[in-house]
Amino acid sequence: MDNFVIQGGGKLAGEIRVSGSKNSALPILAATMLTGEKSEISNVPDLMDIRSTLSLLNYMGKTCSFGSNNFTVRETSVLKHHAPYELVRKMRASMLVAGPLLARFKKVRFSLPGGCSIGVRPIDIHLEAFKKLGAEVFYEKGDVILTAAKLRPARLRFRFPSVGATENLMMCASLVKGSTVLENCAREPEIADLARALRKMGAFVEGEGTSIIKISGAEELKGLKYEVMPDRIETGTFMLVAAAAGGTLKLSDTDIALVEPLARALKKAGVEIVSGKNTILVNSSGGRPRPVNVATKPHPGFPTDLQAPWMAFMARVDGKCEVHEAIFENRFMHAAELMRMGAEIMVTDRKAVIKGVERLLGAPVMASDIRAGAALIVAAAAAKGETVIRRVYHIDRGYEKIEAKLRRAGLRIERVKA
Ligand code: EPZ
Repeated sequence: MDNFVIQGGGKLAGEIRVSGSKNSALPILAATMLTGEKSEISNVPDLMDIRSTLSLLNYMGKTCSFGSNNFTVRETSVLKHHAPYELVRKMRASMLVAGPLLARFKKVRFSLPGGCSIGVRPIDIHLEAFKKLGAEVFYEKGDVILTAAKLRPARLRFRFPSVGATENLMMCASLVKGSTVLENCAREPEIADLARALRKMGAFVEGEGTSIIKISGAEELKGLKYEVMPDRIETGTFMLVAAAAGGTLKLSDTDIALVEPLARALKKAGVEIVSGKNTILVNSSGGRPRPVNVATKPHPGFPTDLQAPWMAFMARVDGKCEVHEAIFENRFMHAAELMRMGAEIMVTDRKAVIKGVERLLGAPVMASDIRAGAALIVAAAAAKGETVIRRVYHIDRGYEKIEAKLRRAGLRIERVKA
């Protein structure tokens, strides 16, 4: 297992090109299961979750190749309908093949994805919605089996705007004749990227980005040639590293519109943000930020995936502030690690109260999930002295070549074998 060793206290200076979005690439790669034709997806980040998806699609009967951020999918044998435990347990997003396989073959079996450190993460919203389209749900040995004699269009309302459920049902409905209407949908930008991809495959999709999405399915869908949108969470994470460490960082191949809630909060905290065409410039003194309270919400609210890196930035706040995590029930694991670096954070249930400290101090810490790991990089960049982050495999799941990108921007970070 690798560690990151970071010497904090220096300012950043330079430019980073933002990679394609992990959370858009995953559903779009799953959508290639909707067609037997060849698909070519570009700007796909080279991450462990993408490689897990490649293994899953190959296991299911596709033949995938992936290099230089280009992912090609061909169908070379009859597709399996069963996504097995050993593949699904590695990555929850594997269940995004459920919608496509149910639509195409009227039968799919996949392992119930386990929980993860940030929460139980049930899939009831997905299953209730599949039932509304005519699927029957069975459970056997830890697997869920969905079957349907025939799928029918429906009007359904999600009890919560689940990102994955919205994506699964958009993909399933894309092969169901007639008009399906999804209400209380997730509005994240990745949903809009998937909608654009499904339209290119021949489905009729409208309303993405709002709470109501209408889909009229096609008899068959075409192969897809598509470029994935920029990763807004990677964008926000790098903005926070620069805000915390101080200096001037330019981000390219991204878009300020993807990180509006964060940009607003950073400006309130005293950080200068200047946006250009597909670029964002962050200019920070690296001093103590002004207090800004943040509560995570479904898009267009403050993204839960930036809550941990934001908390790390707020650890040196000049005063006190609060962070409310409304999406996941256990997403404050990073607080204890930040306290090892000198932060003063009081967590009760879904609220964290941060009493700012003058200085964070480097220490040995441990990543517990992708974004908690990112938070430790933000803190280490601002801290005095050396920080060693263990279990960086969590970080590798969500950030492509992160140490090389940050080193080029002036952060003293090394990857070492543990
Ligand atoms: C997606 O997960 C993202 N993952 C997550 O990013 C992100 O944190 C999350 O959306 C929220 O924005 C990908 O896109 C691959 P949800 P997803 O369904 O789809 C509850 C990262 O770090 N829920 O919107 O699983 C659930 O427990 C990852 O990149 C149900 O109760 O998120 C959670 O509390 C982490 N029943 C809330 O809804 C369901 O059937 C949001 O979940 C589904 C969800």
